[in-house]
Amino acid sequence: MKHLLKLMDLSTEEITDILNLADQLKYEQKNGIAHPHLAGKTLGMIFQKSSTRTRVSFEVGMYQLGGSALFLSPRDLQIGRGEPVQDTARVLSRYLDGIMIRTFAQQEVEDLAKYGSIPIINGLTDYCHPCQVLADLMTIREHRGGIVGNKLCYIGDGNNMANSLIVGGIKMGMKVAIGCPKEYQPDAELMAWAAKNGDFLCTDNLEEAAADADVMYTDVWASMGMEDEAERRKRDFAGYCIDSHLMSFARPDAMVQHCLPAHRGEEITDEVFEAHADELFDEAENRLHVQKAVLVKCMANI
Ligand code: CP
Ligand code: NVA
Repeated sequence: MKHLLKLMDLSTEEITDILNLADQLKYEQKNGIAHPHLAGKTLGMIFQKSSTRTRVSFEVGMYQLGGSALFLSPRDLQIGRGEPVQDTARVLSRYLDGIMIRTFAQQEVEDLAKYGSIPIINGLTDYCHPCQVLADLMTIREHRGGIVGNKLCYIGDGNNMANSLIVGGIKMGMKVAIGCPKEYQPDAELMAWAAKNGDFLCTDNLEEAAADADVMYTDVWASMGMEDEAERRKRDFAGYCIDSHLMSFARPDAMVQHCLPAHRGEEITDEVFEAHADELFDEAENRLHVQKAVLVKCMANI
């Protein structure tokens, strides 16, 4: 694997290989078995948006793999003062062994890969969040013993998370149902692809979306960069919430996932969140393991 720009670029086999390696690395880490696959290598981490999980898990992950990570904020980089991404990519390729980037436009990530000569990993754009969905798939597999045939129901904004869940879910043989307002649907091309390649539904009928779901998933109503729209979105998304009523339409043993950070009382109630806290924090933990697998696949060629 050369880069991780978006899940659409990966085959089902490649995703499965990443999940298998992530399980192995998790086992090794829990049992004190060292795995310095990236000894002497350095990852640059460019963050144009805030982060807790992505930043800490990539940095710790590189350390556990025997390498090191550099946190690069736009305030420190000339990119923040307008140096073109084509030049930044070529310069950083001379120093680093890989780059993780969190930014706004997907094109910026694709351009880094095009102009640079080292692996590029997408740590979230407005379009998608592949690392998060790999961690979600790992957690679903752990908790449910498999992925194929499980129904994933996503409630809320048709945002970066919805886009990546559609692609990851369908590629791994899940049924995917999106419950969202008509004006906030996920990417139209991805929905058309999903309808052609699997069992896919997008509706504003939340009970229909949640019916017999194995996994209930949600995310914030206003993503990073949408702060100006927050008040309008609060009105438009009222009721798009995973609460105990909606959970009663899912399977009795359904699990709950959220990429976090969560806004309790908006997209999820405190009651549902706390009842499923173990699954939610396993999901957050698995960011570390799955990203280590991605780093190894991209930067160590094993
Ligand atoms: N889920 C996620 O990507 O979290 P951070 O924004 O804290 O990195
Ligand atoms: N949709 C959210 C995900 C955060 C991990 C955002 O982009 O802010």
